[in-house]
Amino acid sequence: MTFTAIFLTAILMPAAEPSVAQTATHVSLGMNSCTASACHGGSVAATGKKREWNSSYTVWATKDPHADAYAVLFGDRSQRIVARLVFPEKVDPQKTPKEYRSFLEKRCATCHATIGEGRPSSDGFAEDGVSCASCHGVAGDWLGDNHAGRRAGQMKVTQQLASRAKVCVVCHVGSPAHDGEPAREVNHDLIAAGHPRLNFEFSAYLNSLPTHWDLEKDRNRVRQPDGVKKAQANFAAEVWLTGQFVAANAALELLDARAKADGGADKEHTWPEFSEISCYSCHHELRPQSYRQKLFQRETPANRRLPIGSLVWGTWYFPMPRHALLSQQPAEVSNEDSWHQLELAMSAIHPDSKKVLSLTGALRPKLTPPANPLQTVARLAKSLPALRGDWDEIAQWYLATTAWHQALREEHLDNQKNGDPVKTSEREAAVRESQSTLEKIRGQLESPLEFDPTGETFQDAVKLLLQQLAKLEG
Ligand code: HEC
Ligand code: HEC
Ligand code: HEC
Ligand code: HEC
Repeated sequence: MTFTAIFLTAILMPAAEPSVAQTATHVSLGMNSCTASACHGGSVAATGKKREWNSSYTVWATKDPHADAYAVLFGDRSQRIVARLVFPEKVDPQKTPKEYRSFLEKRCATCHATIGEGRPSSDGFAEDGVSCASCHGVAGDWLGDNHAGRRAGQMKVTQQLASRAKVCVVCHVGSPAHDGEPAREVNHDLIAAGHPRLNFEFSAYLNSLPTHWDLEKDRNRVRQPDGVKKAQANFAAEVWLTGQFVAANAALELLDARAKADGGADKEHTWPEFSEISCYSCHHELRPQSYRQKLFQRETPANRRLPIGSLVWGTWYFPMPRHALLSQQPAEVSNEDSWHQLELAMSAIHPDSKKVLSLTGALRPKLTPPANPLQTVARLAKSLPALRGDWDEIAQWYLATTAWHQALREEHLDNQKNGDPVKTSEREAAVRESQSTLEKIRGQLESPLEFDPTGETFQDAVKLLLQQLAKLEG
């Protein structure tokens, strides 16, 4: 597991609480259809052959965090979350196990187990956690005839990046009820009870999943869609850009569902919903000369737009797509005005839900990624001064810059493979140096409370990083 996902989720919450996950076993009924050693239960180490499809189950069961997702619901941390959401004497895992389980199924198993797709949640497969079927579709639909179903399109499509990201965001961003699937959301009630805030970013999360597939084949699907290397195609940049827009669309869909719940008819969502708003709008220390006050003295377009003291909406999922559109297009097609109207509407204590719905309705069809991922991620990495500069935005900028670094490194390796000896050792040094500066910046982001984006340490590190990356780019 790389650091990125861990630091993002650990950052706001109390230090990771111990889980029962380590001791859980994962082999149960639902998985039997996939786990034979000739199918997905083989081992690359045992056969010495490079056949990732054959060891998918083995990798998932031994290394993938999703295998523990259901077991985690019986651990101490979950018990405390549930106890804070309901009166403990009513639902207690020891005294009232049936009620505890049924609470989990209603509020938690939608994301922590494989349900939906017409399957009842209590069919005995929940213990599998987030299993093969959660990402690939239910095996019964496509098994047999040597997996003709995969070819016939009955499985969920994970080969293409956009549809792959759509699979993840259902649980990692949240989603309203749709097509027979239940609603899934981690709202402020769950967060206040102790659930980690969902800070999904596709490229960081995909990178930190242990791959049970052939990564080279995966990259080539993007780089050489028809056998010919696409000019400019770059896997890391495509993953990042695709993920940004898929996640933003999912977050807007959830916002819609919440706005529609205004008035209380809908029991799945609430309005207003605090988790739409930057956590630091409400949770931060009161101190003189805070960096927020300093940010408001800067002359950047984003800063001057919302009055100081406003609730700030949408700081996690939207800054990068918004700036990606803004930086490449003339103002009249960048939707900047719709974004701004929306953030103004959302800065009210009780936002006007009808207005919000009409604004998201105007924005959503236009929320499509620009054509050139590599150029876009490079531009965003260089755009730090244009951002408002709260912790969420800077963390997203950091993730974008990490993706750009990865993209440049990929290009460098490609060039090397193609026998281009130009500047190899200089580039290698630039890869290493920029990696180390990135790690320093991550260190500074570790604590939102201490973090000061206006401070010299941070500004100097950013300047150095951009110089190093420019060397790598050039
Ligand atoms: C919208 C989907 C969703 C719902 C609903 C949900 N969770 Fe989660 N949960 C997640 C995701 C995604 C993570 C991983 C967060 C991360 O690391 O980014 C997670 C993480 C956790 C963790 C931390 C796990 C660890 O390894 O530290 C616990 C504990 C947890 N959830 C318990 C619960 C409980 C209890 C409920 C019901 C009251 C619940 N969850 C409802 C999606 C959900
Ligand atoms: C969190 C989502 C997720 C889960 C859970 C998951 N997969 Fe995958 N799987 C992927 C992604 C993403 C890919 C890469 C894209 C592709 O090949 O479709 C993939 C690829 C594969 C491949 C193609 C391998 C190759 O190199 O051609 C197989 C086979 C596979 N998975 C089997 C499984 C099995 C069996 C399980 C359960 C034990 C499982 N997967 C669980 C997301 C998942
Ligand atoms: C059915 C819901 C679901 C789907 C679909 C899903 N996840 Fe998850 N994911 C979870 C839950 C729940 C957890 C927390 C598990 C735990 O901590 O035990 C999690 C954990 C993770 C983690 C570990 C996070 C950490 O902080 O350590 C990563 C990485 C991850 N998921 C990536 C992905 C990616 C990439 C996809 C899409 C290809 C995906 N997930 C699809 C529910 C899901
Ligand atoms: C609109 C204001 C508002 C926003 C935005 C907000 N919260 Fe809260 N939060 C509250 C209030 C009010 C409480 C209850 C405080 C109390 O009981 O003392 C609370 C309680 C909590 C608690 C329980 C522990 C505590 O300190 O009271 C946590 C954890 C929490 N919020 C996290 C978050 C996170 C993470 C976000 C961002 C995703 C967030 N909040 C966004 C107002 C907000």
